[in-house]
Amino acid sequence: MSSTVAEKAETASDGILRPSTGKALIIDGKRVSELVLAETAEKVRTLAASGFKPGLAVVLAGDDPASHVYVKAKGKAAESCGFYSVQHNLPATVSELEVLKLVEQLNSDPSIHGILVQLPLPKGIDSARVLNAISPAKDVDGFHPVNVGLLGVGETAKALVPCTPAGSMVLIERAAAALGFEVSGCNALVLGRSNIVGKPMAQLLLAQNATVTIAHSKSRDLPDLAGKADLLVAAVGRPNMVPGSWIKEGALVIDVGINRIPGEGVDASGKPKTRLVGDVNYEEALARAGAITPVPGGVGPMTIAMLMSNTLKAALRGPRRADPATDDTFGGA
Ligand code: GUN
Repeated sequence: MSSTVAEKAETASDGILRPSTGKALIIDGKRVSELVLAETAEKVRTLAASGFKPGLAVVLAGDDPASHVYVKAKGKAAESCGFYSVQHNLPATVSELEVLKLVEQLNSDPSIHGILVQLPLPKGIDSARVLNAISPAKDVDGFHPVNVGLLGVGETAKALVPCTPAGSMVLIERAAAALGFEVSGCNALVLGRSNIVGKPMAQLLLAQNATVTIAHSKSRDLPDLAGKADLLVAAVGRPNMVPGSWIKEGALVIDVGINRIPGEGVDASGKPKTRLVGDVNYEEALARAGAITPVPGGVGPMTIAMLMSNTLKAALRGPRRADPATDDTFGGA
């Protein structure tokens, strides 16, 4: 029996693509994230033989419940990769100066290769000032203007790239390879122009020679733009904003949105249930897309995996490592 194009792609994908109830294949971000984490852990094991251990410091200020959950997951992933992992908890009353002092201390700590200051910071603290104080060489969030600039001039390999677009790009590359989809020359539409996702995503796609359009809240005729997109990345943070009818037949769809909406019924404690949805109407999109990331289980798991990958990247070229392979991307600062 001859297999269909979708079946062939699924077989070629090493379990990354799986069938859906519709035409589209589902891109399994959880599986890809596990592969990235396993690859990172394997490299860390090799480094351990020479007595070297990458170190990640996470700074958490205040008591935002969601931040606590995220930071815990980051620490767990760091430990599972074999990193030296430290978490600095600061009270909500901490001053900007105290946060800056801690960042400075971590900048000059040779056992720390990656620094992440969890956002949002407590009221009254200038986040940009704190983020800009992190050494670009240790900026595993990729938010420092030096890393933003490196990405902007196409030095993608040298830059520490923000984790969500970096993870989205890994999903695109893996899915494209299995599907026989050419990113080079394709029409890519990025919905959303945030500094953390939309803009770096567009830069990464441009670096892969896609024809990139960035659309945003003021863009005219979104259905027309989307209808021409071979590759659509939705990063607007608006639940189900993209209906299936906008999607070009066979397009590759990456849904970055993670939106909590009311669900059906109540939970065990009597509270109304909620559920997570993306920026794309998933059920409708299944009937038109060639492949799509689900929410949850798509881009979400990739973010922490790429944080680990960035930490390893920073550690491998850190100026404090006594290794001839050390590079001086950041001038040894
Ligand atoms: N808060 C929510 N997401 C992030 C992230 O990716 N990095 C940082 N530093 N804070 C966050």
